[in-house]
Amino acid sequence: MTITRSVDELREALSPLRDGARVGLVPTMGAFHDGHVALIRAARTGCDVVVVSLFVNPAQFGPDEDLIEYPRDVERDQRMADEHGVDVLFAPATDELYPAGFQTWVDVEGLASRLEGRQRPGHFRGVATVCLKLFNIVRPDVAYFGQKDAQQAALLRTMIRDLNLELELRVEPTVRDTDGLALSSRNAYLSIDERERARALPRALQAGRAAFLEGRDPVEAARAALNGVTPDYVDVIELGSVRLLAAAARIGDTRLIDNVILEGELA
Ligand code: PAJ
Repeated sequence: MTITRSVDELREALSPLRDGARVGLVPTMGAFHDGHVALIRAARTGCDVVVVSLFVNPAQFGPDEDLIEYPRDVERDQRMADEHGVDVLFAPATDELYPAGFQTWVDVEGLASRLEGRQRPGHFRGVATVCLKLFNIVRPDVAYFGQKDAQQAALLRTMIRDLNLELELRVEPTVRDTDGLALSSRNAYLSIDERERARALPRALQAGRAAFLEGRDPVEAARAALNGVTPDYVDVIELGSVRLLAAAARIGDTRLIDNVILEGELA
């Protein structure tokens, strides 16, 4: 595996591999868990060359959010990427992607102001901007994202369509722990007691799904099953032809998001 830290290095490493090859990109902020690994596996299966980016993107964190505390373990990530057959790891420093004078931003209107976007102003502007940069730097044929961040995937699909980007976005199913909690780098913040309470989130979403399948209101059913946890939101979101029930909640100081499919299949 080649480790690259600058855009020039990345392009140089990729250039000899690119000839006729299908290039897959997995954008990440590191602190790998099995959700990230599932995306890398999907890229390894679907593409000839696999690039993983590792960049904790300051532009998508609000001023009161966890940019400083966000878990980082670059050596472990490098080892895991290597073990899972990644060809090129792109791990730039902040000023490589946001040099002095940086002033161009991507705003996907509409979707960016709902649900997560409403709770986290500017978040999706940071996500869209860094992903467009990564798409331009790597020029992948396919980019892989997780269902766990369904609104992020929906927003990026809209950006790809609206800006005529020549790549395919694939969404892979959410990977969960044995207790049902969706894997997330932020789960590391939870105490044992908080982790116990956090299980209400996937349970409530399952209750919402069951209600939907019986013709009842999934949002109402999920809210009722939250077991004392106050959600930031519980709502239905469309991801292409897939309809999902999504929720976010704060457990202690940790904000968790999750969703389940109500109908349709991920493409
Ligand atoms: P990060 O949180 O590191 O997630 C990287 C990718 O892993 C995202 O596509 C996310 O949806 C996926 N993922 C996270 N948890 C998952 C799980 N339990 N199962 C399956 N996939 C999961 O999302 C980001 O980084 C950033 O916003 C990024 C796209 C890299 C832009 O900075």
